Amino acid sequence: MSETKRIAVIPGDGIGKEVTPEGVKVLEAACAVSGRKLAFTHFDWGADRFLKDGTTLPPEAPQMLQRDFDAILFGAVGDPRVPSNQHAADILLGLRFKLDLYVNARPCVLFDRRLTPLRDRGEQDVDFIVFRENTEGAYAGVGGNFKQGTPDEVAVQEDVNTRKGVERIIRYALDYARRKGLKRVCMSDKSNAMTYAHGLWQRVWKELREEYKEIETRHLYVDTLVMEMVRDPTQFEVIVTCNMFGDIASDLGAQLSGGLGLAPSGNIHPGKVSLFEPVHGSAPNIAGKNVANPMGSALTGAMMLDYLGLEREAALICDAVCAAVREGKTTPDLGGQMGTREVGAWLSERIVKSGLAGAGA
Ligand code: NAD
Ligand code: IPM
Ligand code: MN
Repeated sequence: MSETKRIAVIPGDGIGKEVTPEGVKVLEAACAVSGRKLAFTHFDWGADRFLKDGTTLPPEAPQMLQRDFDAILFGAVGDPRVPSNQHAADILLGLRFKLDLYVNARPCVLFDRRLTPLRDRGEQDVDFIVFRENTEGAYAGVGGNFKQGTPDEVAVQEDVNTRKGVERIIRYALDYARRKGLKRVCMSDKSNAMTYAHGLWQRVWKELREEYKEIETRHLYVDTLVMEMVRDPTQFEVIVTCNMFGDIASDLGAQLSGGLGLAPSGNIHPGKVSLFEPVHGSAPNIAGKNVANPMGSALTGAMMLDYLGLEREAALICDAVCAAVREGKTTPDLGGQMGTREVGAWLSERIVKSGLAGAGA
């Protein structure tokens, strides 16, 4: 019954190092209740290690992670001492690309109406998921500089879109909607301006949606998408878009549902070792103060458990976060007065209590 799931933990930098241990505690609590076993192995990849010995992502890391682990729990990377952001690009984008984690799934769910900045909106109004293409687009790292540092300098960053890349993320979004019984999928691009790159998105979209007649498919240019997300978020169930637009739309979606402190994500390749991380970054402005919200990491842990087939344990975590929000057991970003560690401890206790109550029922 209790097959151990092997989890690689990469806390990274800044608040990643504060919230990830809380995420781990919450995961341990959820699995202790059901007797499921998780084995955690920590990796110190991040700015400290980079500044010490130059290591970013060790070359053997992707293969090792694929071979020895079931999933990866990630914190955040980015440190003011590394202005080039080289280590972050190597570690985070490196893992996304080298593990071919082509789906970046970012759910935006409002747990409590008090958390949304939208006037007169309630829990039922914000409940959608953004699927962000995660292996190409403007992030592909194709480009260069010419005559840098002169008045004639040139900077080029190519937007790389492949038929395979576009097709697999759109198909994933449509299949997800079908699997979950959802009705509405919106594809967003900027094909009116990026006629070559996003012309491809248009062609693939029109072709694939024919196979999903039961789903209401819709296209919005990305500028309209973000405007509509604010004006009336009830329109959206599934949004699928390119790497860069998905980055932006998912931060907006996070804010509509309580802010970056609460937002989880999964970098997924179905059937393969996948990486789960909060949507937020390393937040140097609040790092080291025990004020960062660990709920994003906790909900990220829940997404990871879901992916691993531990749905009951995942639900315990989501319920605990929901209860904490309702009871005001939160960090200052959500209006509370508790610290990172205190919220983590509260969630763990709540999970154990409700898990035992559930088991006894
Ligand atoms: P950020 O997400 O780190 O912070 C944005 C704002 O949100 C800040 O005011 C921060 O204090 C707040 N915030 C974020 N997470 C919070 C939490 N858990 N609790 C309370 N408040 C929280 O974004 P940024 O400031 O643009 O970037 C900082 C660094 O993080 C940069 O180096 C950036 O490249 C990096 N970054 C990394 C990731 C990642 O690893 N996935 C994601 C985004 C940014
Ligand atoms: C995210 C982050 C990253 C991204 C950065 C750190 C490269 O903002 O995970 O959303 O843009 O993908
Ligand atoms: Mn981002």
